Amino acid sequence: MRQLIAGNWKMNMRLEDGAALAAKLRRAADGLACDVLICPPATLLLTLSATLIGSPVAIGAQDCHAKPSGAHTGDLSAPQIRDAGATYVILGHSERRADHAESDAVVHAKVQAAVAAGLTPIVCVGETEAQRLAGAQNEVVGAQLTASLPPDFQGVVAYEPVWAIGTGRTPSEADVAAMHGFIRQTLVSHLGAAGQGMRILYGGSVKPSNAASLMALPEVGGALIGGASLVAEDFLAIAHASDAVARATSPR
Ligand code: 13P
Repeated sequence: MRQLIAGNWKMNMRLEDGAALAAKLRRAADGLACDVLICPPATLLLTLSATLIGSPVAIGAQDCHAKPSGAHTGDLSAPQIRDAGATYVILGHSERRADHAESDAVVHAKVQAAVAAGLTPIVCVGETEAQRLAGAQNEVVGAQLTASLPPDFQGVVAYEPVWAIGTGRTPSEADVAAMHGFIRQTLVSHLGAAGQGMRILYGGSVKPSNAASLMALPEVGGALIGGASLVAEDFLAIAHASDAVARATSPR
């Protein structure tokens, strides 16, 4: 399965710099042996999806509401996001879980809304530093997965340890491999055979300098990148690291 290299721009970029970044990626992503995705702020979805039409770079949103329409001031529904050109949506990011008190049940409802609208959800899970120090990471991530993913889930999972987001710190390679193995096991027991081929992204301080080793780990199906996705050269260097892993491991 091709890896997915996804940029989460968070609440960064305005029209001019966002369009310039998307145009650079459009030119550079041709021929890569990985899938490339950007998730800009919702205000840029429509414009950037036009910029990227016909290119290998896909576009996604950072959240959606669980209802298809209604009295929810300030929210955007999954069908509205689909209209704006998005094909993916990030759900349950730790920043939304923290800033907007999103529970696993809320994430579960949003996943169903996204799938119904034809979007591919990227569901984020991950432990806090205190939970890791207590050795509770598997318990926490396992519970998030089983409560957030409907039994017929189709999509992508992203493991983002909260303490690694925006800190420059990452778990050891052994810890990433162990967690991705655990997530795979949990997906297979929760979803059956569908859990076998599902992409599991790693996110949290992925940079050009650590991308090659992280992307080569077993059960790592790509990356979800925050800060480094805002700089074309850095994001592309990570995509090239994934491309190199694919080329080194694919049969000739
Ligand atoms: P950083 O790459 O900035 O650590 O952010 C990771 C993240 O939260 C992606 O969703």
